[in-house]
Amino acid sequence: MGLLKWWIHVLFVVSFFGFVVHESCAAFSPVDNYLIACGSAKNVSIQGRDFVPDSKQSSFVFKGDHNVVSSSNSSVPSPIFQSARVFPSTASYEFQINQKGRHWIRLYFYPIADSTHNLRSAPITVVTDNFVLLSNFTFKNYNGSYLFKEYAINVTSDSLSLNFIASNNSVTFVNGIEVVSIPDELFPDQAQDLAPVGPFSGLSGRALETVYRLNMGGPLITPQNDTLGRTWENDEKYLHVNSSAKAVSVNPANIRYPTFVKPEIAPNWVYATAETMGDANVPVVNFNVTWVFPVDPNFTYFVRAHFCDVFSKLLNALVFNVYINADIALPSFDLSSFTNGLSVPYYKDFVSNSSAGSSYLTVSIGPDAVADTPNAILNGLEIIKISNDARSLDGSSSVESVLPEMPSRKSKLGIIIGLVVGFSVAVLLLALFYCCMVSRRSKDSPQGHPWLPLPLYGNSQTITKGSMTSQKSGTASCISLASANLGRIFLFQEIMDATKKFDESLVIGVGGFGRVYKGVLEDGTNVAVKRGNPRSEQGLAEFRTEIEMLSKLRHRHLVSLIGYCDERSEMILVYEYMANGPLRSHLYGTQLPSLSWKQRLEICIGAARGLHYLHTGAAQTIIHRDVKTTNILLDENFVAKVADFGLSKAGPALDQTHVSTAVKGSFGYLDPEYFRRQQLTEKSDVYSFGVVLMEVLCSRPALNPVLPREQVNIAEWAMTWQKKGMLDQIMDPYLAGKVSPASLKKFGETAEKCLAEYGVDRPSMGDVLWNLEYALQLEETSSALTEPEDNSTNHIPGIPMAPMQPFDNSVSMIDGVNSSTDDDAEDAATSAVFSQLVNPRGR
Ligand SMILES: *[C@@H]1O[C@H](CO)[C@@H](O)[C@H](O)[C@H]1NC(C)=O
Ligand SMILES: *[C@@H]1O[C@H](CO)[C@@H](O)[C@H](O)[C@H]1NC(C)=O
Ligand SMILES: *[C@@H]1O[C@H](CO)[C@@H](O)[C@H](O)[C@H]1NC(C)=O
Ligand SMILES: *[C@@H]1O[C@H](CO)[C@@H](O)[C@H](O)[C@H]1NC(C)=O
Ligand SMILES: *[C@@H]1O[C@H](CO)[C@@H](O)[C@H](O)[C@H]1NC(C)=O
Ligand SMILES: *[C@@H]1O[C@H](CO)[C@@H](O)[C@H](O)[C@H]1NC(C)=O
Ligand SMILES: *[C@@H]1O[C@H](CO)[C@@H](O)[C@H](O)[C@H]1NC(C)=O
Ligand SMILES: *[C@@H]1O[C@H](CO)[C@@H](O)[C@H](O)[C@H]1NC(C)=O
Ligand SMILES: *[C@@H]1O[C@H](CO)[C@@H](O)[C@H](O)[C@H]1NC(C)=O
Ligand SMILES: *[C@@H]1O[C@H](CO)[C@@H](O)[C@H](O)[C@H]1NC(C)=O
Ligand SMILES: *[C@@H]1O[C@H](CO)[C@@H](O)[C@H](O)[C@H]1NC(C)=O
Repeated sequence: MGLLKWWIHVLFVVSFFGFVVHESCAAFSPVDNYLIACGSAKNVSIQGRDFVPDSKQSSFVFKGDHNVVSSSNSSVPSPIFQSARVFPSTASYEFQINQKGRHWIRLYFYPIADSTHNLRSAPITVVTDNFVLLSNFTFKNYNGSYLFKEYAINVTSDSLSLNFIASNNSVTFVNGIEVVSIPDELFPDQAQDLAPVGPFSGLSGRALETVYRLNMGGPLITPQNDTLGRTWENDEKYLHVNSSAKAVSVNPANIRYPTFVKPEIAPNWVYATAETMGDANVPVVNFNVTWVFPVDPNFTYFVRAHFCDVFSKLLNALVFNVYINADIALPSFDLSSFTNGLSVPYYKDFVSNSSAGSSYLTVSIGPDAVADTPNAILNGLEIIKISNDARSLDGSSSVESVLPEMPSRKSKLGIIIGLVVGFSVAVLLLALFYCCMVSRRSKDSPQGHPWLPLPLYGNSQTITKGSMTSQKSGTASCISLASANLGRIFLFQEIMDATKKFDESLVIGVGGFGRVYKGVLEDGTNVAVKRGNPRSEQGLAEFRTEIEMLSKLRHRHLVSLIGYCDERSEMILVYEYMANGPLRSHLYGTQLPSLSWKQRLEICIGAARGLHYLHTGAAQTIIHRDVKTTNILLDENFVAKVADFGLSKAGPALDQTHVSTAVKGSFGYLDPEYFRRQQLTEKSDVYSFGVVLMEVLCSRPALNPVLPREQVNIAEWAMTWQKKGMLDQIMDPYLAGKVSPASLKKFGETAEKCLAEYGVDRPSMGDVLWNLEYALQLEETSSALTEPEDNSTNHIPGIPMAPMQPFDNSVSMIDGVNSSTDDDAEDAATSAVFSQLVNPRGR
């Protein structure tokens, strides 16, 4: 197996994982799966799962003194509570762990009435090798009749011990234990911290405890209906105002999981129901739906919000805000621009403390000013406690202080602390693992790892080296892959047929990587076929990057990868065909008709959306590194899509603020700061995008060496005119007199900010997007005043238009700006709306 093929198989493991689980409907099957009924004499069946007596288990070791209490009282809340194991002194269960990584630890406690022990007043302390899970809990001053706890611990050694510590001369006890493997994908290492704003890293080294897990607007989901054995409760009792929310639902079978959401993230039952904004009997639908959760303020929480638009009839109709406490978590969140479809799940992770100075955490959703119809949606919510620096989930005592008397305990601190785990390491581990699996598989029976989609490898191997007949069956399975949006493996023959044996007349582009051909697939689909130069080492690296990046990314404003072919050491990528080609060819150097100002703005907005998604939408920031007008492609409707991820780099990880790397990219678009310091940040893309904006305005190349010295570089040239406020002097003559001055002014200011010398002074792609949308608003408002109807500049479908009218009094009133004279009105309203746009928190 060649290196490339090996790599692609690795990618399969990474990106095709969810598909197989979903497609075969193979319920997730955990490697480690201990379900224990403590002190019981017989199996206890709970919701279809068999809990086995701890006396009958041979796969774990039990240490310490113990005895059993049981009750024949069948009115206990669950059969697991009919027996308990009672420990007169500290005792532990030691579980053999067959697969390292996160495991659920679920604990069941119920103080059975017993004549010899008073379990109600017995303090319960539970610690693992590294973490304190529960500290001196007693039922004495607890309202509930039983206690159920769920933790997720990353087990990094071959065994896990659960220690039950007796204290205060009392016994301690437990009724039931689960230790069950969790797929690695479920909990990331990083999430977005909201106060202070920034990434929060290092979650993989922390212990987690589920505090709330809600199925918004839906029924209780029990472990039976969740492959990971989770429980999801209804949200109603946490609603701040009951009537503010209205439940909606669809048939769970309609939920379509995309590649970036594994079905294990949450069952389709969760995504199929949601809370939306209710009719709160208010004249103006402008309120938040808020949920309030009591939490321990001494801890930090991981908050995962699940979304799925089961409500809208159209894409891009639902744009809303999500807040955690008073912090905006998702401003102007256009759900369908992330999912590209309705009934497609999406989720987002945050890290937050309790609301300042209180013991509550609140989550709110509310309508956004730019939405066509004010509404908001939330399908599921998980609030998970993160262990503190003492490695405790309860109180501030550390394991060492609670468990001093066990000298045999190996110190695993070194392993736990100081995790610096890059994505590459994870991939490497997976790769090694995969290699082991493949070599083992070829020797042994095909019994594979239950999490990994082994049959798929079989197919891909058949396709690449099988006979003609097996190739046919391989193709069939590939088509089903394509239908799941996952990319398809093409046979070299199919590519030859599609491109008429790489006919020169079908070449639509030539780049560093190789040639791009227009092709037509058997079913009539137009595609763009990019054929790499097999001798280029650089090409190989970029080929990998591109498959890796694109298979993870789906967005309306990013060119989609349909599949690839690596047969006969070819490196061929197959993309969706973009009928109108690169943006540059519509600006200069061809006979194509000039674009209107509005079209240009809409194209810039589309590209900005694509880049904004790259920077913020994926799990990890992605820096494009080669933003230019030839990498912005237009489809048949002139919808802009960002292409060419060959140079993309995953952005800064952990505590780094930049990626150090050799300078790559195209001259004329290069960020001067990146050039000087060789440090890449997403602001380098912002700079290049500023060059694109100037190019779009002036319809000339970024670098034109035949011009006089001061005009060669568009960034320098346009900046001198922008600073004088005379950008209209150098803009495309075709646009003269057809652009609203206010719109041009906003556009110029935006480009100027992008081209700032230092990255810190440049806006984020999100801000650029807002400013461009605002420039479009200004243009539309002014054209609405002058021309009643203009069909040639129709709004591009799918790009949401903000129904906001900047000059409308109502807007100034919202912001309390009372402008009197007409001349002032424009500036005042402009800045008011502007500040509203860039600072949604202010609303
Ligand atoms: C108890 O459950 C285990 C696991 O499901 C099963 O293997 C065993 O046969 C069961 N024992 C009895 C007595 O039902
Ligand atoms: C069974 O438990 C219930 C409450 O859990 C209690 O009220 C009842 O007295 C118990 N019955 C017996 C026979 O212990
Ligand atoms: C539990 O309480 C006992 C006695 O009050 C104390 O000695 C012990 O340190 C406490 N354990 C924890 C984990 O706080
Ligand atoms: C128990 O419930 C009562 C009434 O619902 C409440 O006032 C009290 O604070 C609760 N106690 C605890 C420890 O939760
Ligand atoms: C320890 O025992 C004493 C007396 O029995 C009791 O007052 C105290 O609350 C107990 N402490 C804990 C942590 O349970
Ligand atoms: C668990 O910890 C190990 C080593 O510290 C790390 O490599 C791995 O990524 C972690 N796993 C998860 C699921 O966080
Ligand atoms: C849960 O699963 C059971 C049996 O598989 C099914 O009958 C029931 O409708 C499901 N309920 C929910 C809420 O998922
Ligand atoms: C509000 O929600 C609570 C909790 O579910 C419920 O008990 C109560 O009846 C609801 N009140 C109204 C007015 O709907
Ligand atoms: C919604 O809640 C957020 C955060 O508390 C607040 O800033 C915003 O003004 C609220 N929106 C409305 C319409 O009440
Ligand atoms: C939080 O920590 C402080 C100091 O350790 C302690 O006094 C306080 O009781 C804790 N609060 C809660 C809710 O546990
Ligand atoms: C939580 O609060 C602490 C102390 O105020 C602060 O150091 C920490 O950064 C906060 N964490 C988050 C996630 O906001």
